[in-house]
Amino acid sequence: PLVSMKEMLIKAKENSYAVGQFNINNLEYVQAILQAAEEEKSPVILGVSEGAARYMGGFKVAVAMVKSLMESYGTTVPVAIHLDHGSSFEACAKAIHAGFTSVMIDASHDPFEENVATTSKVVELAHFHGVSVEAELGTVGGEEDDVVADGVIYADPAECKELVERTGIDCLAPALGSVHGTYKGEPNLGFKEMEQIGAETGMPLVLHGGTGIPVKDIQKAISYGTAKINVNTENQIQQSKVVREVLNENPDMIDPRKYLGPSRDAIKETVIEKMREFGSSGQA
Ligand code: G3H
Ligand code: ZN
Repeated sequence: PLVSMKEMLIKAKENSYAVGQFNINNLEYVQAILQAAEEEKSPVILGVSEGAARYMGGFKVAVAMVKSLMESYGTTVPVAIHLDHGSSFEACAKAIHAGFTSVMIDASHDPFEENVATTSKVVELAHFHGVSVEAELGTVGGEEDDVVADGVIYADPAECKELVERTGIDCLAPALGSVHGTYKGEPNLGFKEMEQIGAETGMPLVLHGGTGIPVKDIQKAISYGTAKINVNTENQIQQSKVVREVLNENPDMIDPRKYLGPSRDAIKETVIEKMREFGSSGQA
């Protein structure tokens, strides 16, 4: 069923695993991720950035695609459709009214008081509709669609506690050194702060920039209260690798099904691998 992230993440935190958020770009992504989740008996979060929503034809198209695929697959595992890095109250409201079951309001670039005000407004509307809310503090490095950082700023534990208490969010993404895209060398995550923020807020924490984080760090993050891990770039890398290989080997190939089909399998395999790493397999 299509559900919010709320129960999913509480259960994940209690049982020490994390639910993966996998970003979708088109039909093949939704197919691959839903199939992986069902095969693995894993809860799953489909992340939709504002850019990806524009590409697919809008929030309503994304919702319709997810709903009808779930129906034709007979999906039994919990699935959330989540706005990734919502840039404003208006964007979140649009997603909620289009049928999203979860939204992220990313006002992390604004001064703290503004972040609290915008996030509170989103929470009020979202909770009225049974939709869960993720908020962010600090700055995730790197770049993803419209979200471009010019440095990495660590979330402040005291601000995290205050934001949670004043807004009533369902989960919190404290930026602690993670990066969108690939890492130069090994990531250097602020585990000390993560442990403190996890303990002081009691919130399920979200780790952005899941691509390229070694398993030992994933496990450590989960042990400090991380219950959601976002992965986007890894699927794009694996998918485009296969498209390139197939087209290079078959210069006359023109049927999109012949190169998108195998690349869809690559996404599915990557998602299955991540679900096992995050410990969400078998938890639905
Ligand atoms: O919001 C999405 C993510 O944080 C994905 O990060 O592309 O580095 O896996 P990634
Ligand atoms: Zn992110």
